[in-house]
Parts: sequence; structure tokens; C-alpha cells
Amino acid sequence: MNIIPQVAQHAPRAGVFGLSQNTVLVAQGEAVSEAEKLAARLRASTGLPLPVQASANSSAIVLTLDASLSPLGDEGYALDATPERIDLRAPKAAGLFYAGITLLQLLPPAVFSSAPQAGVEWSVPCGRIEDQPRFRWRGMHLDVARHFMPVAFVKKFIDLLALHKMNTFHWHLTEDQGWRIEIKKYPRLTEVGAWRKETRAGHERDGAGFDGVPHGGFYTQDEAREVVAYAAARHINVVPEIEMPGHAQAAIAAYPELGNTDEKLEVWPQFGVNRHVVNVEESTVLFYQDVLREVLDIFPGRFIHVGGDECPKDEWRASERAQARMQALGLKDEHELQSWFIRRMDDFLNAHGRTLIGWDEILEGGLAQNAVVMSWRGEEGGIDAARAGHDVVMAPNRYVYFDYYITEDKANEPLAIGGFLPLDKVYGYEPVPAQLSADEARHVLGAQGALWTEYMKTPAQVEYMAFPRVCALSEGVWSPAARKDYADFLQRMAAHTQRLDALGVNYRKL
Ligand code: ACM
Repeated sequence: MNIIPQVAQHAPRAGVFGLSQNTVLVAQGEAVSEAEKLAARLRASTGLPLPVQASANSSAIVLTLDASLSPLGDEGYALDATPERIDLRAPKAAGLFYAGITLLQLLPPAVFSSAPQAGVEWSVPCGRIEDQPRFRWRGMHLDVARHFMPVAFVKKFIDLLALHKMNTFHWHLTEDQGWRIEIKKYPRLTEVGAWRKETRAGHERDGAGFDGVPHGGFYTQDEAREVVAYAAARHINVVPEIEMPGHAQAAIAAYPELGNTDEKLEVWPQFGVNRHVVNVEESTVLFYQDVLREVLDIFPGRFIHVGGDECPKDEWRASERAQARMQALGLKDEHELQSWFIRRMDDFLNAHGRTLIGWDEILEGGLAQNAVVMSWRGEEGGIDAARAGHDVVMAPNRYVYFDYYITEDKANEPLAIGGFLPLDKVYGYEPVPAQLSADEARHVLGAQGALWTEYMKTPAQVEYMAFPRVCALSEGVWSPAARKDYADFLQRMAAHTQRLDALGVNYRKL
């Protein structure tokens, strides 16, 4: 048994179940689509027929929705393997999907190959597994703005999240360096904002210049919908992020009236915290609400991320109009001005039945009423928000920023942003801060890893930085804390890396 993330309970039994020419999948009603997905994966690598049918007498993998298992929750499942049949049971379709992922991991790693593999004995060790996630937000973020990532890779990334029973894909779609989602009302966001003329080729602090190579790309609304549907089929919710009021220079380049000064801004070719931010005019609030209206139409999930991080206040301090706005609204400083801006988005999203989530800076001038906080500068933002009764997602950079180096031997690694985040530190991360009471801890929805792509130009580099750290994080958000064991995890990783090999993942060798 080399399952990652580790299962909650497992009782082995003697014997194996062997897949053969005669094996069938059995499902009825809503379980059929889960059976079809599992069968498709199994057929691709085993080459066996594996029909999905309504009943069977022998050698069957049976998927059943079973309300009596509701104590396992919306994502839990039971898997029972005997030499004659395998039963996958769950109260909800998501649980059947995860039971299927576990079944795949009980088979030889070659089951993850995309073409039929000869000479493999397709057997499953017998036993009973009962499993359910520890947290309901098991997320990975991907920045497609610093470097654009094609739809095909976004789908592969989603498949890899599903392999690890992750259920949230945070799609970071807009930045200073590029706007990546088509907005029909404001076509210049992608006509202009999706393209930059060049990129800083390395660290400014090391004296790096610019590469002279234009870079860009964006997703049409149809492509984004395709990604949402692809993720939904894998029980992954897509959380789009539209950054405001900072990290917005690409939008200002497209629509200069969003800016605070007359300075002509280009889509930013370099990295770091940008002093240019959007202004606080009513027209700018309405602009972003228009953008969100289209975003809501593409992304049906409850959570919409509005960024809110790293918004320097210098331009608002220097702007007569921003200062007049602050006075007219009776706000005491620029942090309250940012909070007012975010509250306008909170009201808008609430009126449309959605929930705003933002980086922990949204706490600084007072938190919007229904906002959820993503705590990245450490755990403090998450602690403060949970104590104030807000839900939080933990993403502290020290533990889950996978753009950091995985080793201290940086000279032998591809150039990265900096930092040092080894695998054992990711593995050891505990999403519930020790300071929280049990009541406050209920506000911790879960945790999420981040992949900022300033120094990841290609999907292969993203995979290298993401894996195996995503594997370690998955265990922190899925498995019971008492079942975690780093030495045991590393042993299971030996088999798991063969799965990643079969899937063509450019993971960093352990
Ligand atoms: C962030 O890393 N600026 C959220």
C-alpha cells in the first residue's frame, strides 16, 4: 500500500483481486459517470475492455452511492477489496471519485500510463479502506500571469491535483505583467494587457537586464469554461483571482483611466511590488464590478478571489482626488480606503450569492463583513481573521510557497525567486495554528500551496517546483494528523514517483 495522501483507516486482508478480460464495472444512476471515468483511465493503460454495466455475477468493480455512509462526509468513501469483487461506496459522487483514485493507486504504477502496458499483472491487494479528508479546502494556486501557461498544461495540472485528492484550483489570472482572461466588455484588457514586450531575465538585484522577447497569452471565456468543466469532472472547484487594487498595471496599461497619474504605463516587464495601483474613482469600482460580472458567469463556484495583497499606498497619498475621496467617505487613512474598495466588491459578490476571498492585507483597514482571508505572510492573518469569526485558508509562505528553493544548494538548481522550503518542512506543516481554540479552529477551511511563476517560464519548470512538494502538502490537508509519518511518506514516495513518471511529470528527484 503506497497511497498518497495516506488513508484514514486501512485493514488489510489476504489475497488479491486481479483485473482480467472478464472484469466489469457496475454502477447505476449517478454513479455511472464516476464508473465511466474510472473505466476510461483503467482501459487506457491495461488495454482491457472493462465495460460499465448495471449488474454482474463475478469479477466486478462495483460503485455504489450509499446514503448510510453519510458519516464519511461529502468526500469520504469506503473501498472493500476481496478476491471476487471490489466495492467502492460513498455517500456522494466526490467520494466515489476519490475511491477510484485510491483504487488506481492500489494497482501497479503503470496504470497511470497513457498507452496499454504489456506484461503487467493488474492486481489489487485485498482489504478495507475507510477514508475521508481532514480539511474541506485542499488547494493549489497557479500564477499564469507572470508566465502564461497553455490550457493543455492547466488541465494536466488539474489531473495531478486530482491524483492527490486536492479539490481547489486557485487560478491567478491577472497581474502587473499580464491580464489572462477575456472580458468582453473591456477587450483591451487582453488586446493590450495580455502582452508585454519583454521580461527581466533574472534578478534585478543581480544586475539582470531584459530578454527582449515579447511574452503573453490569454484564455478566451470558452477556454476558461472548458477548464472549469474539466476540473468539475475531477471534483475540483476553480477559484479565479482578479487582482485589485494593486498588481494591476496590465489593466492600467489597457485602460489608462484606471491609473492615478498621467504617466503612460506599459504591461510591466519586471517583477516585485509595484507602486502603480488603480485609483479609487467610482468609475474604477464599477469597472471591476463589470469585470466580476463576467467572471461570475464563467466560474460557478462560491469563492471569488480579489487579491488585495501588496498594494502600496503612495499614489493614493499623492493624489488629490484619492485624498478627497477618503475625506468624503470619512476614512482615516489609506488602509481604510483599500478596505472600502474591497468592501464594494464584497457587497457586489454577496448580492450575487458569492463569497469574497482575499490575501491577508485585506485585514489592514478593517475586514469586509463576509470576506474569507487567505493568510500568506505567515499565520497571523489567519489567526486574526479566525478570531474575528471569519473563515480562513492557510497559505503561509514559509511552509507552502513552492516557488522557493527546495534545497540550500541553490547553485545547482534552476534560478528561483529565493527562499528555502525543503520537502520535510512542507510535510510537517500543520494548517491549524496552535494558538486557536477549538471553536476558532473551525474557521480554518484548509490550506493551499502557491506557485508564483516569475522564474518558471514553462510547464516543465512549474512541475519541477510543484512536485513532490504538492504530494507532501496533500497529506497535510487530507490525512488524519495522527497518521502522518515522514519516513513512511518517503517510502511511499518511491512508488509514487513511478506514477509521476508514468504521467510524464518533470518532478524534482528526491
Ligand atoms: C503574495 O504572495 N503576494 C500573495
